[in-house]
Amino acid sequence: MTLIDTLKRPLRDLRISVTDRCNFRCVYCMPREVFGPGYQFLHRDQILTFEEITRLAWIFVRRGVRKIRLTGGEPLVRRDLPLLVGMLAQIPDLDLTLTTNGSLLSKQAPLLKDAGLKRVTVSLDSLDDDTFKSMNDVDFPVARVLEGMDAAASAGLGPIKVNMVVKRGLNDSSILPMARFFREKGYILRFIEYMDVGHTNGWRMDDVVPAADIIRKISAEMPLEPVDPNYPGEVAARWRYLDGSGEIGVIASVTQAFCGTCTRARLSAEGKLYTCLFAVKGYDFRELLRSQATDEDISEVIARLWGRRDDRYSEIRSENTASLPKVEMSHIGG
Ligand code: GTP
Ligand code: 5AD
Ligand code: SF4
Ligand code: SF4
Repeated sequence: MTLIDTLKRPLRDLRISVTDRCNFRCVYCMPREVFGPGYQFLHRDQILTFEEITRLAWIFVRRGVRKIRLTGGEPLVRRDLPLLVGMLAQIPDLDLTLTTNGSLLSKQAPLLKDAGLKRVTVSLDSLDDDTFKSMNDVDFPVARVLEGMDAAASAGLGPIKVNMVVKRGLNDSSILPMARFFREKGYILRFIEYMDVGHTNGWRMDDVVPAADIIRKISAEMPLEPVDPNYPGEVAARWRYLDGSGEIGVIASVTQAFCGTCTRARLSAEGKLYTCLFAVKGYDFRELLRSQATDEDISEVIARLWGRRDDRYSEIRSENTASLPKVEMSHIGG
């Protein structure tokens, strides 16, 4: 049975964060000044076990969820992640995917594929080592992320999608080189407008390069035309090269908000459910899972939360929203 929120949006996707930790310190997500040595990450007993995640996933699927995306922090730093993938892969008719920074993918790609993962999306913000390192802030080289992508493609986890967050003055000069390179490779590159998620990245509207400008820039060299979405509510707007050499996407969450078709719920590593990327408060499912609650009880809570959902943050954001309290991106995985 489909659940509908107050704006008539069904519940279709569940993004599950499996850890709040990451081996990168991207300046727009986990800036070192905040996520440095003193930062308190969640303890092991605070995060949901694989059994708890799987139990919840089944309940969500019975409530209409068709896609589950594993995120983090960096999901591949969670120990034995392929075990969880194997457990979730038992759920029939589910699009099971993962978003990763690619750093640990070379090793894990075949294991993830064997466990039943369908495809992966890999983040990469530049092909230039200096630029990339200034963004990941841990001196991580581009070549190893590319190796990870290639390992995933060889393991059968394609079509590979690549996410590039564009921040003005930092990596906008990488837009064209990235487009040329991934067009050649046949991976689907998606440009993401830098967002005011969390309250630690010091976001300013001036830092955003509008998706329309990105499309104009690429199209001037490699002509593009728009393509229909793969499914209703797809986050990325698709564009294809006129010469048939592939497609790209733009995720314009700032300049062209897509809340009207947002079917996503997000579960944090500690088991809180957020009905928006920009939510302030999440509902504590860990407590429910660790109580005597039955699956039916939990299912009722999901129905109640979704039934009263009215979030549409990106449609109503303004310059001063940067200072509002919000959950950190690394808690709910983008
Ligand atoms: P597929 O279409 O299945 O490939 O997945 P996806 O594009 O939804 O997943 P992905 O994790 O690659 O999302 C890309 C990025 O879009 C995220 O990292 C976020 O930056 C952004 N994004 C995804 N969902 C939302 C959303 O609900 N709201 C906003 N504002 N941004 C989102
Ligand atoms: N704005 C836009 N995208 C972001 N991501 C992380 N922080 C931000 C931000 N402030 C993206 C990552 C990755 C995904 C999980 O979220 O680059 O692709
Ligand atoms: Fe880690 Fe991804 Fe955040 Fe970068 S954007 S710090 S890789 S979780
Ligand atoms: Fe969905 Fe909130 Fe993003 Fe709008 S801002 S698309 S409601 S997650």
